[in-house]
Amino acid sequence: MLTAALVVASTILVLILQAHSPTVPSSSTPPNDSTTTLPRPDDAAARARLAVDALLAAQSSTLPEASARYTLRNQRATPPQYDRWFKFAQEKKCLVDNYDQIRRDFEPFYQLAERNPEYFRAMIERASKHVRTGDTAYGSNWLGTLGRFSQSLPNMTFLLNGRDEPRVAFNYRAPDASTTALSPNDSTPFVFQPLDVSRLKLPRFYTNSYEPSVLLATAKPGFTTDFYPMLSMSKISPCFSDILFPIEVSPHTFTGRYAYPDNIEWEDKISKVYWRGMSNGGMIIGQNYHQFARFKLVDIGREHPDLMDVAITRFAETLCEEGCNRDAVRTEYNITDSSQPREDLYKYKYAMDVDGTTFSGRFLGLLRSGSLVFKSTLFEEYFIDWLRPFEHYIPVKADLSDLVQQIRWANDNPAEARLIQQRGMEMAKRVVTDDQNDCYFFAALLEWARLQEMGGEGGRYLARIRNEM
Ligand SMILES: *[C@@H]1O[C@H](CO)[C@@H](O)[C@H](O)[C@H]1NC(C)=O
Ligand SMILES: *[C@@H]1O[C@H](CO)[C@@H](O)[C@H](O)[C@H]1NC(C)=O
Ligand SMILES: *[C@@H]1O[C@H](CO)[C@@H](O)[C@H](O)[C@H]1NC(C)=O
Ligand SMILES: *[C@@H]1O[C@H](CO)[C@@H](O)[C@H](O)[C@H]1NC(C)=O
Repeated sequence: MLTAALVVASTILVLILQAHSPTVPSSSTPPNDSTTTLPRPDDAAARARLAVDALLAAQSSTLPEASARYTLRNQRATPPQYDRWFKFAQEKKCLVDNYDQIRRDFEPFYQLAERNPEYFRAMIERASKHVRTGDTAYGSNWLGTLGRFSQSLPNMTFLLNGRDEPRVAFNYRAPDASTTALSPNDSTPFVFQPLDVSRLKLPRFYTNSYEPSVLLATAKPGFTTDFYPMLSMSKISPCFSDILFPIEVSPHTFTGRYAYPDNIEWEDKISKVYWRGMSNGGMIIGQNYHQFARFKLVDIGREHPDLMDVAITRFAETLCEEGCNRDAVRTEYNITDSSQPREDLYKYKYAMDVDGTTFSGRFLGLLRSGSLVFKSTLFEEYFIDWLRPFEHYIPVKADLSDLVQQIRWANDNPAEARLIQQRGMEMAKRVVTDDQNDCYFFAALLEWARLQEMGGEGGRYLARIRNEM
């Protein structure tokens, strides 16, 4: 299977290189073996490089080509200023064609626009009564981020969720969703208040006994049940309908920068899963934390010290109020508020990525670290089409019930495990970069601008959801 896929990929690569080559190489030029010969099956690094080479080579290289592919995928013409986006994407060496997440996120809004072209704009106006302008998840750098491409955007108003939870608890796939959407009736959207999460009709996850902490005791409820356009960093489909945007890789602390590069050979790394982190999850009430993913991770680690080295190092004070016995929790899980260098991860072949209050924000950093990532999450981020389970990381169920089995698989199949690790690292280093994040954000805002313009003149301000209350 793998070999066949690589043959196809390498064929595409060669064809495209020929198509764009202005001169035919003279017959005296020896063929370049590294582009015409498949790497040895055991050369994981070369195979990973080739996969990314093929992905990049397959991108549209001219505006007409990019526009044609856009139209095929989206079934509508490119948005205004797409030519400027294309130029930007070329300059930044971004992907040009693979933005299906943007298409999926905006599709229901385009469908609603057919029934009411003013809907998108009206919902922004409506939201602006409940939000304020200010700093965002991008911290002090967000104006810098936007400044790299804002000159190519019309005046517009967009709603940026300053928290890492999704906010738009609306299932657009539900029967009559479009009719429901067109008559919004949530009088207190995005407000910090207890919300009966059973109303959200989240799907049950993996096992009947498992309730993720976002359902049990969400840390900061602030949902709306109306269908607002809202840029958020994560969501759970289909019960949330936020529009995803990228968190910044740098200098945002979430993703984790390492002080120095990986300095331990793969063969010298310990074949265990490593994880350190805070006790983030939901609000701790009584014993409910035993259900939170990070606590479960430590429970499993205690049963399998031969496979895992995991520990909660810091206690999340803000998630412990009434009904929470912090001393008991600290003692039970040996939470000593000691910190260890992030680079300790280099000693281990395997890294764990597990949700805190929402997505961990560490995934890209972990992929770059040099360890194979085991990822368990309920949440989608903007890159889910690019970084795929089994290809770039090992997926683990949300209740972690298959974690031990997946670690054993990696130990039993070291060559395959190494290939997945190399592929994930190559994608994170060469494709899902800061520049790529800019390209994604810019592309999403072009769709936003078009939908907003359908409802009248350009917007007047930038706004975001309240971060506190
Ligand atoms: C062959 O291609 C590889 C990768 O594209 C490059 O690093 C190398 O320098 C090339 N070798 C020659 C002889 O052109
Ligand atoms: C954008 O808004 C500013 C300030 O309101 C205004 O001066 C400018 O003319 C607007 N630009 C466009 C293209 O509408
Ligand atoms: C809003 O409308 C939905 C569907 O039409 C309905 O189920 C819900 O009860 C309404 N909510 C309020 C607060 O009226
Ligand atoms: C508790 O954690 C500390 C480090 O934070 C460690 O040195 C110690 O061995 C742990 N104790 C137990 C019983 O696991």
